Amino acid sequence: MTDPSTLRGLREGKLEVVGRLPGSSNQALVVLVHHPDLAEPFHAVYKATVAERPLFDFPVGTLARREVAAFLVSEATGWGLVPSTVLRDGPYGVGMVQQWIHGDPSVDLVALVVEDDPRLRRMAVFDAIVNNTDRKGGHLVPMPDGHVFGVDHGVTFSVEPKLRTVLWGWIGTPFEDDELAGLQRVRDGLRNELAASLGELLDPAEVTATKRRVAALLRSRHFPRPNADWPSIPWPPF
Ligand SMILES: Nc1ncnc2c1ncn2[C@@H]1O[C@H](COP(=O)(O)OP(=O)(O)O)[C@@H](O)[C@H]1O
Ligand SMILES: [Mg+2]
Repeated sequence: MTDPSTLRGLREGKLEVVGRLPGSSNQALVVLVHHPDLAEPFHAVYKATVAERPLFDFPVGTLARREVAAFLVSEATGWGLVPSTVLRDGPYGVGMVQQWIHGDPSVDLVALVVEDDPRLRRMAVFDAIVNNTDRKGGHLVPMPDGHVFGVDHGVTFSVEPKLRTVLWGWIGTPFEDDELAGLQRVRDGLRNELAASLGELLDPAEVTATKRRVAALLRSRHFPRPNADWPSIPWPPF
C-alpha cells in the first residue's frame, strides 16, 4: 500500500520549494522531494505549522499533527485512503509533508459525490472515525485506476462530534463486511501501536475519543447520522 521508499523520501529527503497551492488558507507549499535512494524526485505538499491560520475550534499549531494522525488511521484501516504523510522539519520549520497525488483530472467530482459512488463509502467510514469536519468535494482525489484518495485532514480528531462532510449518501445504512473489517483493524490498532503513535500527535482525550467513536461505530454497525447541533455540510461544498 504505502511504498517504503516514498515514506523514506518524505522523512529524510531534501525539500525544494517549487510553488504554493493557490488559495490555500494555510500557505501550503508544493515541494520536490530529493533523496539519493529515489530514481526521480517526487512532488509533495508541505504545510508548515507556523503558517497555520488560527481557528476558533482547534488549538493553534496542531493541524499538521492531525494530518499525520489521519494518515496513520488510514494506514490502520488497510484502505490506503490518505497519501503518505509525515511530520518533519522543513524550510519553514516543523510541518507536515504529504505525497502529491497526480489524480485523474477527467473525473467529474461533483457527479462522483452526488451520485453516492460506492467507492466513497470507505472514505465516509474513515471520516466518521477521525471526526473530519471538512470533507469537501475538492478534498477527494480520484485516480485513473478508480481508487479515491482523501486530502486536507487538518481539522480532525476533535473530542466534540463535528462530522461535516459532503458524503452523507448512506445515512443509517448498514456497514458492509469490508467496512466492519476496516473498523475492527482500527479498533485493534488502538489497543496498542496506533494508540501510542496517535498519543505523540494528539491530546490524550482526543485519542480516547477516537477509541470511543470506533467502538460506537462497531456497536451501531450503521453509517452515522448528522449531528443536529452542528452544520453537517461544509461550505462551499467543493
Ligand atoms: N497530497 C495531495 N495530492 C493531490 N492534491 C492535493 C494534495 N493536497 C492538496 N491537494 C489539492 O490542493 C487543494 C488545497 O489543498 P488543501 O490541503 O485543501 O489546503 P488548504 O489547507 O489550504 O485547504 C486540495 O483541495 C486538493 O485539490
Ligand atoms: Mg482545503
